[in-house]
Amino acid sequence: MSNHYTEPSNLTLLGYRMFYDPLRARYLRGLVASLQLDGTERVLDFGSGPGSEATYLARALDRGGRVTCLYVSPIWLGGARRRLRRFDNVDFLLGEASAVALPAATFDVVLAHYVLHDVDGAALTDSLGALSNTLRPGGRFVVVEPIGAQHGLGADELGSLMDAAGLSERSREVVHPPFGSATRAVYRTFWPPSSF
Ligand SMILES: C[S@@+](CC[C@H](N)C(=O)[O-])C[C@H]1O[C@@H](n2cnc3c(N)ncnc32)[C@H](O)[C@@H]1O
Repeated sequence: MSNHYTEPSNLTLLGYRMFYDPLRARYLRGLVASLQLDGTERVLDFGSGPGSEATYLARALDRGGRVTCLYVSPIWLGGARRRLRRFDNVDFLLGEASAVALPAATFDVVLAHYVLHDVDGAALTDSLGALSNTLRPGGRFVVVEPIGAQHGLGADELGSLMDAAGLSERSREVVHPPFGSATRAVYRTFWPPSSF
């Protein structure tokens, strides 16, 4: 099982916190606002990196909701832990989505922000299956993938992977983070039928 990730130095973590994330603060706030959370939900942030989007999720989940950061790298997850230490509604899970014990039918939203293209082959199929299982019936799986020939999953590939994981597409749009463009697609579990 191989993944495209490198363990960051402390300087990289600091760079995210001091420069990269402030530059995309408006975008990240908009991303979380677009989820239209009422504050009570359970959200799984798959591939949470240093806690960039989780910071805004933790703020938005202010009526008893919780965010769970899931990441395969102990160093990135350690950075997220430090950054999010002032919040009491954040949990941290270390490991592959298919290997950690994710509770079944629990999360209202799974968010995969700029992550899926970094997970290779069988690991991606297994992870999507596990993430789909952890969604409650009618829950949403929100994917944001960069657009580009060398970067990001193609629409067809993403569609068939999500289909195989038991998820059907409900919307798709192009969004514009500070660097490049991305596809934002929302999927739901097949059953029960849900209005969107
Ligand atoms: C570009 S970062 C995005 C982090 C964060 N979501 C953000 O938008 O800032 C994508 C990360 O996914 C991570 N990744 C790769 N394989 C993974 C896996 N199997 N499970 C979780 N994360 C993985 C890589 O470490 C890579 O750094």
